Amino acid sequence: MSVVGARPNFMKIAPFVHAVNRHNSGEPCRDKPANAQGERRIQHCLVHTGQHYDAAMSEAFFDALDIPRPDVDLGVGSGTHAEQVGQTMMAFEPVARSWRPDWIVIVGDVNATCACSVTAKKERTRLAHIEAGLRSRDLDMPEEINRMVADRLSDLLFTTDDIAGANLRAEGVPEEKICLVGNIMVDTLDAHRPSAEKLNVAEILGQAEVGGRKSEVGGRGSDGEKGYTVLTLHRPSNVDDEGVLRRLVDFLAEEVAGRIPLVWTLHPRTENRLNEFGLMQRVQDAGGICLVPPLGYHELLRLTMDAKVFLTDSGGLQEECCVLGTPCITLRKNTERPVTLREHGGTCELGGNDPDRIRALLDEMLRMERRPHRPPLWDGHTAERIVTELVQRG
Ligand code: UD1
Repeated sequence: MSVVGARPNFMKIAPFVHAVNRHNSGEPCRDKPANAQGERRIQHCLVHTGQHYDAAMSEAFFDALDIPRPDVDLGVGSGTHAEQVGQTMMAFEPVARSWRPDWIVIVGDVNATCACSVTAKKERTRLAHIEAGLRSRDLDMPEEINRMVADRLSDLLFTTDDIAGANLRAEGVPEEKICLVGNIMVDTLDAHRPSAEKLNVAEILGQAEVGGRKSEVGGRGSDGEKGYTVLTLHRPSNVDDEGVLRRLVDFLAEEVAGRIPLVWTLHPRTENRLNEFGLMQRVQDAGGICLVPPLGYHELLRLTMDAKVFLTDSGGLQEECCVLGTPCITLRKNTERPVTLREHGGTCELGGNDPDRIRALLDEMLRMERRPHRPPLWDGHTAERIVTELVQRG
């Protein structure tokens, strides 16, 4: 049984589901000959907790990434953290109890990941965590708490890189539980890159509307920079505090969009906060900002491929920028994904939400060459390694 809840989970579960199907059909894969006679078929059940439920945040990804409809939808929806985690545990318990799977597989670090890890272990089911061992050491991030809980309870920890493995060893996780498999999101990226490449940037932006209004994005900013930058912003630390968000909006409108067109893909949380703090008009009136709703997987991948600089507080996008070679300013003080930073060969730098620091980085990154970087095993075959390991462990 595998579990998803929120948008960043979907690109991680898609390759897993497809690798399970390939295993069952006996298709050969890279590290393994054709399904050996007598090897067990995997009966797989996909559970969606319903943490994300808008079509653009959920269903669109099932369609684009060819994920089958979930076998079980818990329909939990939005709420405070305690409500989300508590309701997910209550709804998941009878499902785990009636299906009695050999393994429950969780991905990433959202509230669904944490809630289902606790329920899985209380139901005495073996638990495997895909994307284990990432640590920001920042307990103000709900995701850090989710990661710690999920990893502490997991019987099998699939890691993306050596730094994640070292984090787990330092926490005393026994060696036999840690399994370096690479980054499963790169499987999705590699599989869908050819389709994304065929899309046209102007068409993607031309179709986008926020609040019934189309935003303009000119060919050049007033300082004449060609190309465009992309922004995604949704962390509570950046959007929930009015002062922080206002300062960021002023900076983005005047100093980023004034220089090079800025495509801003608007998360529902951020849209709510901009409206609540009376900042939406300011964003809509700023020349050079193209506001677009949450984009589909291929559309955002296409924009990322050609962006001069990406500004984001998302963890997954940092990794995608690293693989695509797109210079990325991470709008956070820390990251649980240090392997994507320039000091480790990646393309990302930590900018926090301080305009002075972001300004200096923007100057530098606008001049940076694109430099794709793949840490070991970020090769598009991570899901196969995960399925092989699960089958071997029985
Ligand atoms: C969640 C994850 C975060 C991930 C992000 C990606 C946790 C703790 N956070 O944050 O790690 O990076 O997803 O998006 O699990 N909303 C809608 N429609 C939806 C979903 C949400 O309108 O389909 C609005 C609701 O007002 C909701 C708010 O967005 O209260 C926040 O959603 P929530 O799932 O609580 O957290 P995210 O900020 O999306």
